[in-house]
Amino acid sequence: MPERAAILDAGDPLAPYRDRFEVPQGVIYLDGNSLGCLPRATPARVEDVVRGEWGRDLIRSWNSAGWIDLPRRVGSIIAPLIGAQPHEVTACDTTSVNLFKLIAAALALRPGRKVVLSEPGNFPSDLYMIAGLERQGLATRRLAARDHLKDALDADVALLLLTHTHYKTGALFDMAALTRAAHEAGALMLWDLSHSVGALPVDLNGCEADFAVGCGYKYLNGGPGAPAFAFVADRHLAEVEQPLTGWMGHASPFAFSDDYAAAPGIEKLLCGTPGIIGLAALEVGVELIAEIGVEALYAKSQKLSEFFRQCLVEAGVDLELVSPSDPARRGSQLSFRHRHAYAICQALIARGVIGDFRDPDILRFGFAPAYLSFADMADAARHLAEVLESGEYEREEFQERAAVT
Ligand SMILES: Cc1ncc(COP(=O)(O)O)c(C=O)c1O
Repeated sequence: MPERAAILDAGDPLAPYRDRFEVPQGVIYLDGNSLGCLPRATPARVEDVVRGEWGRDLIRSWNSAGWIDLPRRVGSIIAPLIGAQPHEVTACDTTSVNLFKLIAAALALRPGRKVVLSEPGNFPSDLYMIAGLERQGLATRRLAARDHLKDALDADVALLLLTHTHYKTGALFDMAALTRAAHEAGALMLWDLSHSVGALPVDLNGCEADFAVGCGYKYLNGGPGAPAFAFVADRHLAEVEQPLTGWMGHASPFAFSDDYAAAPGIEKLLCGTPGIIGLAALEVGVELIAEIGVEALYAKSQKLSEFFRQCLVEAGVDLELVSPSDPARRGSQLSFRHRHAYAICQALIARGVIGDFRDPDILRFGFAPAYLSFADMADAARHLAEVLESGEYEREEFQERAAVT
C-alpha cells in the first residue's frame, strides 16, 4: 500500500496545502473533525491583532481595524461554504448558545406549536438545549429514530433539529428531503452543520433550510473554542426574534437605549461583545478552507477514507464499521465499533496516530483533507493492524480514562 499511497499523493491536487498547516512531525492527525490543525498563517495574524490592533491602537481598533464588523465579515466567508448568502451568516458565541437562540426563535415563529423534534443520539447540546427550553415551559422535546422522523412530523411540531453529519457515525441526512418534510408538516428546519462545514458541500438555500449553526474549530480550523456561526434564511431575517437580547444585537448598540430594538439583519443574532482574537484566528482558518474549495476537499476526503478502508482490508483488519459504507452517505469520517475502543485509541495515540473515542465503544477517525496524505492513511492502517494483532492495547497504561476523551 505505501507504493499505491505514493502514486495517489503524487496525483493529489491538494497536496501542497499540507504546508499551509502545522502538522507536527511524527503525528498522523485523524481528529481534525474535533479540533482542526493550526494554519501556519494564524500565529502572525493573532500577533498582529494582539500587539498592533489591541496593544498599539487600543479601542480605536473597533473602527480602524473593523473589529465591529468582524462577526459579519467572517460569516460572509463561511456563507458560500454552506450555500448561504453573505448577509445570512454571522460568527458568534458557541454552537450550543446559537442552538438555544435559534430553537427559541423558531418556536416564536410557530405560535400554537411547541414540539421540537430531533433524533435520539443527536449531539448532547442539541438535545439538552431543547430540554432546557422544555424546563422553561417553552418547548416539548420529541425524539424519533432517523428512519421514523418523517412519521413523527405532525401539526404540533414547530421545529425539526438535526445534525447533518452525525458526530459519532458520520451518517449524513438527506438535507433536501428532510427540510421538505418539515415544511410540508408546517414546521421549520434547523441544521447543525458542525461536522459538515468545511468538509463537504452544503446547500442551505438550495434546500430552503430555515436556520443552521456550526462549529468553527473543527474543519474550519479556527482553534480551540473558536466562535461558532449562525445562519438565518433571508426570508426570516426581518421577523425572527431570539431571546438573548444583549446590546450587540440591538439596532443601535451605541444609542444605549433602555429599550431593546433588534437589529434588522443578522446582527440581531449577536448578544455581547464579540471575541476579536478568536474571530481573527477563525477568519484565517475559514479563508484557507474557502481558498482550497469545499468541492475539492470533499472529493479528496472520500478518496482518503475509501483508501483507508482498503488499507485495513489489505492488512487483515476486520473491524465493525458503524459509518455508512457508501462514501456518498457519510461525512468526512469513519467510525468503528470495538469493545476495547478506548484502549485501542490510547495505544494508537502512543504511536502518534491521533483519532478519538466516543462512548461507549466507538473508535472515530476524521479525515481532514486539507492536510492529510494518502501515505498517512497507509501508515495509520498499519499501526491499527499492529495494535490489534499485538494486543498492546491491553496494557494497563491504556485503560485509564482521561477527563477529555
Ligand atoms: C454536532 C455538534 N453540535 C454542537 C456541538 C457543541 O459545540 P460547542 O461546544 O462549541 O457549543 C458540537 C461539539 O463538538 C458538535 O459536535
